[in-house]
Amino acid sequence: MSTSVVLGAQWGDEGKGKIVDMYSSRADVVMRYQGGHNAGHTVWVNNKKYVLHLIPSGIIHKGTMNLVGNGVVVEPCALLKEMQDLAQDGIVFKGRFFISDRAQVIMPFHMDFDKKREERKGDKKIGTTGRGIGPCYADKVGRSGIRMGDLLNLPYMREKLEGHLDELNAQAQYLGLPNINIDNIMAEFAGYAKELAPYIADTVTMVNEAIAKNQKIMLEGAQGTLLDIDFGTYPYVTSSNGSAGGACCGTGISPRLIGTIVGVTKAYCTRVGEGPFPTELLDDMGEQLRKNGHEFGATTGRPRRCGWLDLVALKFSCMINGLSHIALTKLDVLSGIDELKVCVAYKIDGKETTSFPADLAALASAEPVYISLPGWKEDITKAKSVAELPVNAQSYIKFIKDFVNTDYCVVSVGTDRFETIELIDVFA
Ligand code: GDP
Ligand code: IMO
Ligand code: MG
Repeated sequence: MSTSVVLGAQWGDEGKGKIVDMYSSRADVVMRYQGGHNAGHTVWVNNKKYVLHLIPSGIIHKGTMNLVGNGVVVEPCALLKEMQDLAQDGIVFKGRFFISDRAQVIMPFHMDFDKKREERKGDKKIGTTGRGIGPCYADKVGRSGIRMGDLLNLPYMREKLEGHLDELNAQAQYLGLPNINIDNIMAEFAGYAKELAPYIADTVTMVNEAIAKNQKIMLEGAQGTLLDIDFGTYPYVTSSNGSAGGACCGTGISPRLIGTIVGVTKAYCTRVGEGPFPTELLDDMGEQLRKNGHEFGATTGRPRRCGWLDLVALKFSCMINGLSHIALTKLDVLSGIDELKVCVAYKIDGKETTSFPADLAALASAEPVYISLPGWKEDITKAKSVAELPVNAQSYIKFIKDFVNTDYCVVSVGTDRFETIELIDVFA
């Protein structure tokens, strides 16, 4: 089967953009299935940096079709800006970029609600990206959302907004925001509708027709399994299913048609925003990982929290997603550290466990049980095979693979497309 999912196996920012870009050279279609412009996926090509937020990371490869699936939430202004920026770099959209008519629209008031709610939560805030993601998904499941297809029928969009204006204004007032002005919104959206109309399409049919023609499809996850609304560290999560199940619901592709599922995994752990993080390092080592790994958010620029690799969490992620492979990234960042620790169990209430708990308080109190592995000093960014890696780096990656019982498809040793050891073609 030639439909492959690439998703985040940890708390996001694992390097999904790099891995999707790498496989995109062989893909016919690259499709996002959830999240919105809270994502920031970095791709480096010939010393040029691209950061994709809403647009699939496949767009940089000329031959690919790029689709934004029904599970994604789209902020039209941010999308147009991203398209304009990429167009300046010579990237063409006409005929090779489409957005699902079923995708939900992030409205200006969603962003205001998101920011205000966070403000009011004070030290209990989630640490969201402020992009309106939660309020938009809440309206989706509350059956009052605006969909991209509605931009093609503005009187209908207005009718829908008017239908729940009272509720929206009640929320606005509760949050200390001014009343919502539908005339202003409609005037703004008339412009977006005109510019985006050529790109709004029935992506469900498009992608299924591509599959029927045996084309190679890559489904690009955003965020990560531990930020998933169902399986993450709730409520410190995003509002969609970035895990493997979301790939079907967010595209309209049957689970029967999915082949490989790749979990992109950093060789250590990072997290942005609030919430439990058992292996977090608040000392010099955490600082060293942040500095060497350039761990600052691709969307918000916030410093990422850093810690040792958490294999309890990774094993959970392998189970939830049924990962067929791991794409291990940023192994090079660990070069020069004498002693590497990996978490193999949690101690909760004095008892050791290898299960990832649903209970937030239990997770917050979990003490990591570490084993130490010897580090290596060599620069590994030019390694082209596992055999070329220092013996201790080989042992480190073997330990991970054995613990989670999942093979690698890629080991990434640098930011560039070519600083990659490819072991398996996920489309083969
Ligand atoms: P994503 O959200 O999962 O696509 O990841 P981000 O782009 O937010 O963050 C990953 C960061 O790590 C980016 O700056 C990438 O350029 C960088 N990166 C990806 N793979 C590697 C790697 O193997 N080594 C190093 N040093 N950096 C990497
Ligand atoms: P990519 O795709 C890392 C985090 C936020 C916050 C929580 C909820 O680049 O890996 P939201 O704005 O989604 O309501 O915020 O989720 N978050 C991410 N963390 N990478 C991301 O995306 C993220 N998208 C959201 O920091 O903790
Ligand atoms: Mg990111």
